Amino acid sequence: VVLVMDFGSQYTHLITRRVRQLGVCSFCLSAGASLDAIAKLTPSIVILSGGPHSVHEPGAPTVPDGFFDYVREKKVLVLGICYGLQLIVKELGGVVKPADSQEYGSTEIRASLGSKLYGDDPEMMTQAVWMSHGDEAVTLPPGFNVVAKSVQGTITAIENTDLGIFGLQYHPEVTHTPKGIQTLRRILFDIGGVVDDWKLQDLLEEQIELIKSAVGPNEHAICALSGGVDSTVAATLVHKALGDRLHCVFVDNGLLRYKEQERVMETFKRELHLPVVCVDASTDFLSRLRGVTDPEQKRKIIGAQFISVFDKFACHLEEELGKTATFLVQGTLYPDVIESCPPPGSGKGHSHTIKSHHNVGGLPAVMKLKLLEPLKWLFKDEVRKLGKLLGVPESFLKRHPFPGPGLAVRILGEVTESHLEMLRQADEIFVNSIKEAGLYDEIWQAFAVLIPVKTVGVQGDRRTHAYPVILRAITSEDGMTADTYEFKNKFVKDVTGKICNTVRGVNRVAYDFTSKPPATVEWE
Ligand code: XMP
Repeated sequence: VVLVMDFGSQYTHLITRRVRQLGVCSFCLSAGASLDAIAKLTPSIVILSGGPHSVHEPGAPTVPDGFFDYVREKKVLVLGICYGLQLIVKELGGVVKPADSQEYGSTEIRASLGSKLYGDDPEMMTQAVWMSHGDEAVTLPPGFNVVAKSVQGTITAIENTDLGIFGLQYHPEVTHTPKGIQTLRRILFDIGGVVDDWKLQDLLEEQIELIKSAVGPNEHAICALSGGVDSTVAATLVHKALGDRLHCVFVDNGLLRYKEQERVMETFKRELHLPVVCVDASTDFLSRLRGVTDPEQKRKIIGAQFISVFDKFACHLEEELGKTATFLVQGTLYPDVIESCPPPGSGKGHSHTIKSHHNVGGLPAVMKLKLLEPLKWLFKDEVRKLGKLLGVPESFLKRHPFPGPGLAVRILGEVTESHLEMLRQADEIFVNSIKEAGLYDEIWQAFAVLIPVKTVGVQGDRRTHAYPVILRAITSEDGMTADTYEFKNKFVKDVTGKICNTVRGVNRVAYDFTSKPPATVEWE
């Protein structure tokens, strides 16, 4: 295992992903983890991440007492990145100071020939790297050598080959350090001697076995399928372990896209053979949303309705079928749990009790279900790969994300049947045109939004007073930040024509060019 200690860098997850991409098992532990928690994972390499702090700040995060004795005794290789390097230097008796000129962004480094970190490869001796630091190491601890400096003269790479401790002031994990992956490869394989034998197939089999042993022979699990990638892959995996002791529910809340219920139910049943019940709760959802215009209130109502449907489903299982659900399957991913859930082997069991967060707005405390979160060690791209291994159709795995509150956050103001109908049609035309143009996979999310303010138009020689539709398409890594997708003008013009000619009640279309920030992805 390569253990990444998280000191708060925005790149910590990326380090873990890069290591996994190289075929090596890797997990994160938050700064503050005990030496015991680290030792339980028996890491062969520990990477100390970057972070926003200065090592001199009172209360700045550090490694637990005895960490350096432990790594020396167990011959664990240590790599410090940015803050991690500074921590090594300070903890082992060197000096770290605020840099005279702080370095942010791309710079060039010069390495010395013959170091363990860079070897003799002339290609590695001069390279562009990504820096982001305010402090710098100025005096190294005994036994350490400087093996690279930036063109500004900052110490950028250090090593102590006797102790097996290395440090990089720059970020080898980001794509802006083009040769960073080669450096990580060298550290992992050539110096650290780890083997690239980590496979998703192993994790899949391990999870199936874990679920089989965690859920007793008379126990049942329930799962709310949203039609999204995460819940579908999680349910498919749990179904492999539990068979018909898994009970899935898909809620039609009346806020779904065009023909969504039919499309996803078809895939669940015909292609994935999942035991799923569709509950049509659209009347309840829509009647509770009547007259409500405040976005937060809309979300809360939808969250509460989901809970009520879910609760009824559990009661139905219990009272009518005599099956008591004791487990709840969730498609939680690794970035959501790193803070709250230590990795396997660190002393915590497979399932833990329900946390307050949930993508449709909280779960009922009275259900007292234990969680099964088989994807909680995985990143999104890994979930897609796992889905492929499980036979989830590719078209399903590549679906754009869709928010839990559905079209309610894309109809500004009150959600009405007629607005839903217009939006569904406009959205379908837009997304279909994207698919026909072969652009769907380049885009993170594309959808239409309906504005409840009428504008004047002229259609078929008549003046109209109808609604505008906004088209939005973005690219993103994770939905946290987003860039506008830039279509050719002709494409947007053609879609505009199709929407205005087909969707009754719409006479105008605009394209949203705003990135996130300052806007969010959704309009509400
Ligand atoms: P925002 O609008 O916050 O969206 O920039 C970022 C990503 O999250 C999705 N989103 C949601 N997903 N429940 C969800 O399950 C929600 O309430 C919700 N709100 C936004 C959004 O579609 C985008 O992918």
